[in-house]
Amino acid sequence: MKSRILIFIALICMEGLQLFAQPAGRVNFDTGWRFHPGDVAGAEMTSFADQNWRSLDLPHDWSIEGNFRPDNPATNSGASLPGGIGWYRKTFSVSDTKTKHRFIQFDGVYMNSTVWINGHELGNRPFGYSTFQYDLTPYLIEGQNVIAVKVDNSLQPNSRWYSGSGIYRHVWLTTTSAVHVDHWGTYVTTPKVSEEEALVQVETNITNGGRENTSLRIVSTIVDKNGNQVASQVQTEKIEPKSQLKINTTFNVKDPQLWNTEHPNLYKLVSEVYQGKELKDAYYTNFGIRSIEFRSDSGFFLNGKCIKVLGVCMHHDLGCLGTALNTRALQRQLEIMKGMGCNGIRTSHNPPSPDLLDLCDKMGFLVMDEAFDVWYREKMKYDYHIYFKDWHERDLSDMVIRDRNHPSIFLWSVGNEIAEKDHTKYGGAAIIKELDGIVKKYDKTRYTTSAFAGVWRSDTTFMTDKVDVIGINYTVERYPEEKAKYPNGFFIASETTSSFMDRGIYHFPADTAIGPTKDLHCSAYDNRGYYYSRKATKITQTTWKVVKETPYMAGLFVWTGFDYLGEPAYAYPSISSSFGIVDLCGFPKDAFYFYKSQWTSEPVLHLLPHWNWKEGQLIDVIAYTNCDEVKLYLNDQLIGTQAFVNTKTTYKVKKWDEVVNVGEGQKLSLDWKVPFKPGTLRAEGYKNGKLIATDVVKTAGDPAQIELVADRSTILADGIDLSYITVKIKDDQGTLVPDADNLVHFDLEGEGKIVGVANGDPISLEPAKGKERRAFSGMCQVVVQSTGRKGKITLKASSLGLPDEKISLKTN
Ligand code: GAL
Repeated sequence: MKSRILIFIALICMEGLQLFAQPAGRVNFDTGWRFHPGDVAGAEMTSFADQNWRSLDLPHDWSIEGNFRPDNPATNSGASLPGGIGWYRKTFSVSDTKTKHRFIQFDGVYMNSTVWINGHELGNRPFGYSTFQYDLTPYLIEGQNVIAVKVDNSLQPNSRWYSGSGIYRHVWLTTTSAVHVDHWGTYVTTPKVSEEEALVQVETNITNGGRENTSLRIVSTIVDKNGNQVASQVQTEKIEPKSQLKINTTFNVKDPQLWNTEHPNLYKLVSEVYQGKELKDAYYTNFGIRSIEFRSDSGFFLNGKCIKVLGVCMHHDLGCLGTALNTRALQRQLEIMKGMGCNGIRTSHNPPSPDLLDLCDKMGFLVMDEAFDVWYREKMKYDYHIYFKDWHERDLSDMVIRDRNHPSIFLWSVGNEIAEKDHTKYGGAAIIKELDGIVKKYDKTRYTTSAFAGVWRSDTTFMTDKVDVIGINYTVERYPEEKAKYPNGFFIASETTSSFMDRGIYHFPADTAIGPTKDLHCSAYDNRGYYYSRKATKITQTTWKVVKETPYMAGLFVWTGFDYLGEPAYAYPSISSSFGIVDLCGFPKDAFYFYKSQWTSEPVLHLLPHWNWKEGQLIDVIAYTNCDEVKLYLNDQLIGTQAFVNTKTTYKVKKWDEVVNVGEGQKLSLDWKVPFKPGTLRAEGYKNGKLIATDVVKTAGDPAQIELVADRSTILADGIDLSYITVKIKDDQGTLVPDADNLVHFDLEGEGKIVGVANGDPISLEPAKGKERRAFSGMCQVVVQSTGRKGKITLKASSLGLPDEKISLKTN
């Protein structure tokens, strides 16, 4: 009994650390590594002298520490940052090597890693997004041991977006008895779910690595989010030496607290394995009780309730932190998306970190978990197509087995805009069928999908109907046509058009598609001429309107939530994308307020653009709002009142321009043309005749002050936690100067360090790891990380001609 109480106490402590499905004997193995950039002969050997190598803690991305250069072989698709080879080593001590079993798990290494323990090669893993584990047991010795990892990201370009390089996710060391629950050893499903009762089925896989036959008692307990025991079962089994055992357990949970996007209730399964009275192993699995269903006429149902998936696609970089995983940085990304009303994440186009899935479970996001961007046919010279033949089965099945307990996951995607779509001779139909089969071998409780680059193309190669849900990328103008071909099909807009904007940049007039432009930027008016229509404007809002009005479309994933490094809108020096709804810093572009006005019920009224123009210039003023009527005033003079005319979108199929050049009554924004006069532009928003929201933009004077705002002023003193500090250049009245590009220098004192600087400008080549940054459209960002000690941090910002500004933070 005592040991079980201890387990529950341990469980509760772990919640704080966000460690989810895992064995009890697992410890984080991120600290105390040594790193060497470039290849080194003999570095796998125990005796190799690494004392001059750099000391660091993981996760680590060496590419983001480099400089943006046009000759870096990643090209600007990979953000023009360096790749190459890097080595990591860690020396650690163990005892009880005769009785204990030990395993090392890498959550992700980009890419092509080879791992050695005490000079023995454990294996090689090319795919940079797979999680993998090695058994160290046969090679460990009492006392000091050395693990060495070679990471080879030298064959470039190998990615259409910034990949990062190194051991960029967590590493774990698990110590068990000879008898233990296997790696990813539990599988929890909820085949019957209602408000009154849920059937919970558990499969537990156990290994006896010892030399004797033994009898085991397996105690499986379900604990609710408050730590209360909900149900428990005891089973007794015999297990042969060096063998495995699969046991099934069924529970009926009364009055279950269902998981959904608003109330992401989680349960924990505690699986304990006893030999006699001795607890040999314990394993914890978080899960949720929920049902999912697609219907061909009405979209997606969660727990029997129809909801639209309001999703975004995300790549894995964290802006100026590169790809080095940090839980707080990820959580902040998700908080920003949730604040917009987003409830879905597509892990484009690769298996995500386990941390992302844990956060999505906890925060209530529906996840489309995606495996591949390529199969046998390349998109980049050295991408995964080289490895697909030998590795796809392993990589795909590992993804499903690793992730199949996450309630957030509702779709498994086997590919994105796969090049096999282009010709039947590439055999895409057979490959997609095989991949669908691999997924279903390990999980039949979710739906499979693939993100098709226009269904009609995949139709010609017979790929479309080989998965459960037809994922349509873009091509909203073809929905009726595709539906007519697959009347019983399930549909999701797996990728929809991007904001394709840079924060604070406006190209006139707003009702004309413009671009590319000489300033190498994209207009935030939603009027950037794009490849599927050079003429279209307001594509963001039209796309959403069509999805909203199409009941069989389960939802959408906008390309993308955040801007990401790589895949820029222009040639070098453009190095990061403009597709995001928020920029690389997480600062909202105007599109953020458009989605918020559509996806939340909070009153939203957002005016654009800023109000610093030339006297007399005709300015397009737009309001993103969920009010029914908006009055616009310039210097307290009424300019005009606009209201929404609610009609359904009418369009002819196959002609994007006819969809997007929306007439009155089809718009989801209100607009005016206003001759510019300096002063104050003010909007009042009314719903049912009642004033519910206002917004103001003011003409700013010259830069006069710096404002520093921290997202959190107290952070954990754990050497990991972050505070994001927004830097604004303001005039003497406190108005943001919208075109300010002042260079701001940062000095930090106390228990923290600067780990990144950014400004959201896709053509900024300033290093992410610097101590200074230019403002872009009046703003930049500095990211501060705690040391391991409690205390105070003071950050000073200075810029030529402006008074210094300071901000204090606490580490606790
Ligand atoms: C899509 C593709 C994404 C991204 C996007 C840019 O077709 O799936 O990965 O490249 O285009 O517009």
